[in-house]
Amino acid sequence: MGISGQIIAAVSPQAPMDRDMTPFTPTDGQALRNAFGRFGTGVTVITTQTAQGPLGMTANSFSSVSLAPPLVLWSAALQSKRHDAFAQADQYCIHILAASQQALASHFAGQGHDFSGFDWTVGPQGAPQLAGCLAAFHCTRFAVHPAGDHSIIVGEITDAAACDGQGAGLLFDQGRFGSFAPQG
Ligand SMILES: Cc1cc2nc3c(=O)[nH]c(=O)nc-3n(C[C@H](O)[C@H](O)[C@H](O)COP(=O)(O)O)c2cc1C
Repeated sequence: MGISGQIIAAVSPQAPMDRDMTPFTPTDGQALRNAFGRFGTGVTVITTQTAQGPLGMTANSFSSVSLAPPLVLWSAALQSKRHDAFAQADQYCIHILAASQQALASHFAGQGHDFSGFDWTVGPQGAPQLAGCLAAFHCTRFAVHPAGDHSIIVGEITDAAACDGQGAGLLFDQGRFGSFAPQG
């Protein structure tokens, strides 16, 4: 009785750990957005070349996918004016931002065509490569999957670069930029 009673108590939905979470309906867009925002992420800027010149966009939906072949993904909102350019792009470059690059992240969240304030070069496949980032993955289009109000864009990395050392990344959590604080 003593042991099984303790086990039942440990898995009960009334356990203290569950008390601070309030259920919400997943069709409540604002509540869902807020809950998604509890997942802290790194921050990327994704660039491509268009007929109107270089285009950039800040994105935190980036994820690594596969080592062989080397694949990554991110998702672009259908409502974004930049969606079609990225969904149709054959070449693009995903940059992992350093903690010092919040201005770059804010700039390419606001608009995509002005590269004048930043150092960049034309990458090996033609997509712009921004200077000062922690890593850059030059990708060719591998797949684009429709997914609700976003497109999941999967890229195969053809060329890559990363900084030496342990430079800290720019992080995004609950709508705020920040940086990593190691525990212990
Ligand atoms: C930290 C951060 C992360 C973002 N991540 C994404 C993302 O993964 N996908 C996306 O479609 N938009 C994302 N956005 C929004 C775009 O950067 C940009 O603000 C939006 O596309 C603006 O709309 P427009 O393209 O119509 O100008 C993010 C914005 C911020 C600030």
